Amino acid sequence: MDISRMRPLTGEGRKLYIETYGCQMNVGDSEIVVSILQDEGFVYTERVEQADVVLINTCSVRDNAEQRVWGRLQELKRYRKGKPHLLIGVIGCMAERLKEQLAERGEVDIVAGPDAYRDLPRLVRLADEGGKGINVQLSREETYAEIAPVRLDKNGVSAFIAIMRGCNNMCSYCVVPYTRGNERSRDPRTILREAEALFAAGYREVTLLGQNVNSYRWSDGEGQVDFPELMRRVASVSPLLRVRFATSHPKDMSDRLLETMASMPNICRCIHLPAQSGSTRMLELMNRKYTREWYLGRIAAIRRLLPDCAITTDLIAGFCGETEEDHRQTLSLMREVGYEFAYMFKYSERPGTRAARHMPDDVGEEVKNARLTEIINLQNELSLESNRRDVGKVFEVLVEGDSKRSADRIFGRNSQNKVIVFDKGDHRAGDYVRVKVTSCSSATLLGEEVR
Ligand code: 5AD
Ligand code: SF4
Repeated sequence: MDISRMRPLTGEGRKLYIETYGCQMNVGDSEIVVSILQDEGFVYTERVEQADVVLINTCSVRDNAEQRVWGRLQELKRYRKGKPHLLIGVIGCMAERLKEQLAERGEVDIVAGPDAYRDLPRLVRLADEGGKGINVQLSREETYAEIAPVRLDKNGVSAFIAIMRGCNNMCSYCVVPYTRGNERSRDPRTILREAEALFAAGYREVTLLGQNVNSYRWSDGEGQVDFPELMRRVASVSPLLRVRFATSHPKDMSDRLLETMASMPNICRCIHLPAQSGSTRMLELMNRKYTREWYLGRIAAIRRLLPDCAITTDLIAGFCGETEEDHRQTLSLMREVGYEFAYMFKYSERPGTRAARHMPDDVGEEVKNARLTEIINLQNELSLESNRRDVGKVFEVLVEGDSKRSADRIFGRNSQNKVIVFDKGDHRAGDYVRVKVTSCSSATLLGEEVR
């Protein structure tokens, strides 16, 4: 008897549409979700009008990320009036955090947390039968190790590879340990296979992803693999394959990793090292486990071992108890490091976190706004200064696609992850081109090919 034929077919050519909010991890997760559902017969579509199932992959890191999703659900509720067969699912961090509220909403048929994606076919079946498909069980082991993500990127040049999931750091402001659970690393052999398959398919850049990639660790009968070793192996797939990583915690940024980077030119010269604040007092309240001085020591190590490395960061304005002096310290840290780029946020209290339970959110909205504006203005200056220093230099650029502004131009990135726009010539996405920078704005470099 053929058991597989007796199973109800969930997909049957039904169209799946997925919308992704939040971080790069979520982008990677959406690709895993599409892979799991394709195996059940679903067909991916980029157009919501064609969809039979709509999934919203959500983020809980700040309140405004969640508000956007509530707004979107409201829209989808109206949209479904004309399409009663449509199923709507909420997956990811918000599903984990707000399962009860989501399950109560009439328009939500499926709720799946970040570790429950293998169960999605069953959850869809439950919804098909008129019930709700809900699974927000977190796992200590799930890494989706052997699932080949369906690449949803458009360029076919750069892809994400998730190497670990979850987070054990417990920064006091952060909801991630609650929504994504414990830290766990993925089998390095599956990571390598994925990198090799991507290279064979024409990809030229992979970004190894995790909430804290520096604490990647795998051990089995064959020995131990830590993050520097994993980087070395992935970068050895081909000298033509660029390797990036995100995100790293400053406390784990080891000299060994920097030395590995220095020894392999295809590991990109760009380190994202979230500082969050320049004030040691704030860092302690945030439970970041380093001081301003220690952070600057790591920056000095990067400058020493990788002199041409770009450094980018995340900053939070107006965390609990932040004084004007603490804020000044953040501005001075930014100047001292001279960040190439920063993601900058206002503190947003997240229910259930240590800060929400024990520390009053006492910096007023206006003060938060004023401080964030100051931080953004300073970063714009620093980005412009950094770009000006690049004018006249020659970089190897990996072409990603046509420039949005002009059909005769293309854009790509240098090792430092800066976007460079230049004349197309006969180049295509995936080519490496030597480009001399001729001018810049605070966001982009313009250049010309050097032969
Ligand atoms: N409020 C504001 N920003 C936050 N981040 C994380 N949690 C919060 C919060 N509660 C920021 C941090 C982190 C980035 C992913 O989001 O800067 O590095
Ligand atoms: Fe948002 Fe953090 Fe979840 Fe990513 S891990 S989706 S940033 S809450």
